[in-house]
Amino acid sequence: MAKMIGLLTAGGDSPGLNAAIRSIGKAALGAYGMRVIGFRDGFRGLMENRTIPMDNASFSGILTRGGTILGTSREKPHRMPVGDKVMDMTKVLVENYHKRRLDALVCLGGGGTQKNAYRLMEEGLNIVTLPKTIDNDVYGTDVTFGFDTALGIATEAIDRLHSTAHSHHRIIVVETMGHNTGWIALGAGLAGGADVILIPEIPYDGEKIAEAILRRRHEDKNFSIVAVAEGSMSKKHADSLQRISHKLRKAKDQKEKSRLKDERKRIESHHSASTIQLSKQLERLTGLESRVSILGYVQRGGTPSVADRLLATRLGTACADLINDGVFGVMVASKGDATKPVPLEKIVGKRKIVSLDHPWIESARRVGTCLGD
Ligand code: F6P
Repeated sequence: MAKMIGLLTAGGDSPGLNAAIRSIGKAALGAYGMRVIGFRDGFRGLMENRTIPMDNASFSGILTRGGTILGTSREKPHRMPVGDKVMDMTKVLVENYHKRRLDALVCLGGGGTQKNAYRLMEEGLNIVTLPKTIDNDVYGTDVTFGFDTALGIATEAIDRLHSTAHSHHRIIVVETMGHNTGWIALGAGLAGGADVILIPEIPYDGEKIAEAILRRRHEDKNFSIVAVAEGSMSKKHADSLQRISHKLRKAKDQKEKSRLKDERKRIESHHSASTIQLSKQLERLTGLESRVSILGYVQRGGTPSVADRLLATRLGTACADLINDGVFGVMVASKGDATKPVPLEKIVGKRKIVSLDHPWIESARRVGTCLGD
């Protein structure tokens, strides 16, 4: 009997998802004679048993398409909104896996998806995952698909902002995605020649940034580009976050705990508001005009880059090979030119952040980029 595999895409969409679906599907059907079914809208589709039958025709013409033909959602099996309640629906997902007589379920997603897939693995399901996210922060893989495309889009935006910043002698603060890690801001900032790059891994000091901008002005450079990841924080914010986390660890009283959690959420969700505040602060400190450009979802849309198509295709065929070999409970990681199955328990709950001695950080400092510290 031919093996039956289920596919779902979860979390934020990302260029390269369709290339990966195509690759898994073509290899599974063509090379191994398996059957494939797609679940719509992430884990919710598995819970609601909403499927798309997939044959060879389903995998044609989608290589270059952005988004995901399956649809996606951020919903988690163990905290699923059902009516006006949030319920643990894990058992229902497991039942549907068996009802559909699946031999394996492939989950394509970022860090959250890896965690949710791991939970299903613990319930006895045969799981294989692929790492996707424009943020590039999935632990255990060199790179995730979607990242290269987002990097290209953000770099082109920085290139374009240069001429307008230069013409108006302005500061332009350009915000990239990346709520926990600064891969996009750092990569695009470095490739686009941003004068200041701010990432969540390095809390910034507004005065240091203003000094760097004024130094440029004294060298007759009358404009500056500041690339900032959406999750970047001032030192003041980072310190209060640290104090709250410390208090939370010690708190015993439930009321106090939930008050501290709310406070933490408030600080963490400052995102774009803090980019706007930063721009205002820089205007005040430098006396120069400053403008903000928030790149937002543009970074997640459209055709995947060549590198993302290659990566997604490579990971997809390796995924079909692993299923054929009966290797489950793993994420298909990219390691150099090769792919490697990494056990899910080794990656869940971890995040690949930019290390402070990463070569991109060192190069940025060498070319005189201010990192806000
Ligand atoms: O998927 C990653 C990401 O694009 C982050 O960079 C961004 O902060 C987040 O998703 C936005 O999420 P949502 O699509 O739920 O608004």
